[in-house]
Amino acid sequence: MDTRIGHSIAEAAALLQQDQLVAIPTETVYGLAGNALSEKAVAAIFAAKERPRFNPLILHLPSWESVRQYVTEIPEAAQELARKLSPGPITFLLPKKEMVSDLVTAGSERVAIRIPAHPLTHELLTTLSFPLVAPSANTFGYVSPTTAQHVLEGLNGRIPYILDGGPCGVGVESTIVGFSESGLPEIYRQGGISMETIESCLKMPVLDVTRKTGAHLDAPGRLKSHYAPHTPLYAGNLEALVARFQGRRVAIIAFRKKVSGIPDSLQFILSESGDVQEAATRLFAALRKADQAGVEMVLAELLPEQGIARAINDRLRRADIQWK
Ligand code: TXA
Ligand code: MG
Repeated sequence: MDTRIGHSIAEAAALLQQDQLVAIPTETVYGLAGNALSEKAVAAIFAAKERPRFNPLILHLPSWESVRQYVTEIPEAAQELARKLSPGPITFLLPKKEMVSDLVTAGSERVAIRIPAHPLTHELLTTLSFPLVAPSANTFGYVSPTTAQHVLEGLNGRIPYILDGGPCGVGVESTIVGFSESGLPEIYRQGGISMETIESCLKMPVLDVTRKTGAHLDAPGRLKSHYAPHTPLYAGNLEALVARFQGRRVAIIAFRKKVSGIPDSLQFILSESGDVQEAATRLFAALRKADQAGVEMVLAELLPEQGIARAINDRLRRADIQWK
């Protein structure tokens, strides 16, 4: 199969109507989209990504108004967050209606729902008579794509079309929020909207359950080597890492400043001005470039744990070969 890159919403829509897969731009990362109501399309997504079937998919809708078609209940906190933060990089775990297939939710009673903010994909979703499921458009376990070219590198020959919407603005995946039985918000994945923003919207503390283990939590987030480049990666304090691997051929992913004694061509700086949002936007491209640099190992700097840096740190820790 030939994989083409283009800008045609009509072409993307025609393929999706035939149960084919199309990579779509979102503000977070590119998604690998298919008709959420077609078992054939959903099955094709798992196959193209080589993704295990126990890892559920996010349902992408054109607007919050249509959410009630797919869920039985919306807690007040979810309404409030949707009003203030959606469309945007936030995904809601809500109790599903029967029409949402078990293949989409991997058997869970909850479905993940997101309203993406990218204009091309918004227009595409508005054109279609069905919602899209879209995991990140990378092969399972590898770094998520933030450009059409990244998608091509991973899925060339496996999908017919990549809708090119330019580089993704946010650069890390959406924040996933669930709600306890009493309606309290819980963060299942740190992402493009910070925990602090969610807390200030709701004027209450939210629980970070990303590191808690338990059968109700999604297994995939706890799999080894998620978001991992092929080259071994170590994340932590950069000075300590550089000292530890003295004399080895390393590439560096640093927040603001280069490290002395390592060639410039092997150093990837996420934001010279120290802007954490910019660092998030550049993170996945830097991981890919470092992976292609032909080094023994990649050393990446962890940031102070706050705001969007929580998502950056989370992705780097999962990419670390020592991560469990
Ligand atoms: O920003 C994003 O969310 C991107 C763009 C394309 O929208 N999508 C994305 O999808 O990151 P994916 O499939 O790569 O990651 C979705 C995560 C997975 O860890 C999955 O386990 C979790 O969401 N998830 C999906 N449905 C769930 C459910 N019903 N219950 C618990 N976790 C769920
Ligand atoms: Mg993913």
